[in-house]
Amino acid sequence: MSTNEKRQAGEAAIRYVEDGAIIGVGTGSTVAYFIDALADLKDRIQGAVSSSEQSTAHLKRVGIPVLDLNATGKLTLYVDGADECDSHKRLIKGGGAALTREKIIAEASDQFVCIIDSSKLVNLLGKFPLPIEVIPMARSLVGREIVKRGGNPVWRDGVVTDNGNWVIDVHGWQIADPVGLENDLNQIPGIVTVGLFARRPANVVLVGDKVL
Ligand code: A5P
Repeated sequence: MSTNEKRQAGEAAIRYVEDGAIIGVGTGSTVAYFIDALADLKDRIQGAVSSSEQSTAHLKRVGIPVLDLNATGKLTLYVDGADECDSHKRLIKGGGAALTREKIIAEASDQFVCIIDSSKLVNLLGKFPLPIEVIPMARSLVGREIVKRGGNPVWRDGVVTDNGNWVIDVHGWQIADPVGLENDLNQIPGIVTVGLFARRPANVVLVGDKVL
């Protein structure tokens, strides 16, 4: 993990920000650098749509208006980090438990710029345990479905998402078909969001200040 590359990536993403835009803002330590850099441009943007209470607090602290996605409609740009990224810009996200709002904003945005340090790059997704947000009463059901598929589900005990749900981290999957797995898991009742961003991958990945 490189703090310097995270800072470079967060600052490099500023070049995708257009005057007058509303920016979708992700969550995490790399995004924190982006928010700090965005604060310098706050008079040139309308505001931000935030993916978590954590980012909302940061955006407000630096004076960037936080807007409701229902009121803004489609966004032109979403900037967020990731926990893993493959060469097709498919991602694992959710290490910070903010995956659901992140996936909503990614889907609502024309361009998803993902900002990472080089430790996040992988050939095959799955070494980072795959986060899945579940409705609490479905935890065991979902766990059994994951075991059937060869995964080892571990409840992130004590963590409650911004949406009042729980998170299961799936260990032991080498994800050869990320779109297929995402589609399959999306059918299981009780799963709110799968932390695979493969159906809607990133459009641009910045590894430090370099475009992947
Ligand atoms: C939040 O749930 C995650 O998806 C974050 O995008 C991810 O964990 C960010 O990682 P960094 O803190 O390393 O930027």
